[in-house]
Amino acid sequence: MTQPAVPAPPDVAVVGAGAVGATIAYTALVRGSARRVALHDIDRGKLEAEVLDISHGLSFTPMGSIEGSDDVEVCRGARVVVVTAGAKQKPGQTRMDLAASTVALTRSIMPRLLEVAPDAVYVMVTNPVDVVTTAALRLTGLPPQQLFGSGTVLDSSRLRHAIATRVGVAVQNVHAYVVGEHGDTEFPLWSSASLGGVPIRDWSRMHGGALDEQARAQIADEVVNAAYRIIAGKGATNYAVALACCQIVESVLRDERRVLPVSTMLEGEYGVDGVCLSVPTVVGAGGAIERLSVPMSDAEQEQLRRSASSIRATAEQVGV
Ligand code: LAC
Repeated sequence: MTQPAVPAPPDVAVVGAGAVGATIAYTALVRGSARRVALHDIDRGKLEAEVLDISHGLSFTPMGSIEGSDDVEVCRGARVVVVTAGAKQKPGQTRMDLAASTVALTRSIMPRLLEVAPDAVYVMVTNPVDVVTTAALRLTGLPPQQLFGSGTVLDSSRLRHAIATRVGVAVQNVHAYVVGEHGDTEFPLWSSASLGGVPIRDWSRMHGGALDEQARAQIADEVVNAAYRIIAGKGATNYAVALACCQIVESVLRDERRVLPVSTMLEGEYGVDGVCLSVPTVVGAGGAIERLSVPMSDAEQEQLRRSASSIRATAEQVGV
């Protein structure tokens, strides 16, 4: 009889087997983002059930494996660690309302994770992700490239979808970013948005004002409030955020160097210093490799500074 293989370290370890974490683990295997996935949660019953359920589908996915444990050892040697552990946003709650509890939880789990995966790239997803990312960076002392947040990658996908459905083109041909906080002060970077290579404002003028200022304001409102609408209907968001996280994980594991609006510690750009928020950033094997200098109008830079002030205020309230 062949000896069972000694398990190789996971390519990606997901911490937290709630709706988001379990869906990230599942999506990573369905997309083939990673060959070996680990899932960790202290709730052993939930953890084992999620792993068992996902495992039963592995004959339908690209070659892959999943291992789960309530022992953080299961994350040992991971190349990427995705941290989703934290409280769920309840209907009507803002992400910032979760800050005190999730920062405390993050502070309790990061030291042990660093023991088992000191060289991993850390992707923080737990909300409020910008505050949690700031706290985790300060606590661990990791280089800012090595630990960053999922930021507004999800929100940018929501924006692209909203634009695509309004004008009837494939979402793949819409390029637009949401920047700032992953939360109520986020905003679309209309100045650099484009449709099939045509700047949005030019496209709108050429198509009867289809994306005029009023339409853009409606789209922005739809994007900012998307999560509240979904949470009110089903209690949590999980599918799109999982897909967004898997794109980040793939860009790291494959060194794709995609430009993604992940949450990193700004160091003076746009007049923002010492706060984690999202601007377009090159993501590759080293993590959040380089923030791009994207053109922003004066009004957009002011909006970014307002977003930074909101994040900083919550961070200070919870002692980050
Ligand atoms: C959302 C959660 C992930 O925006 O914050 O769906």
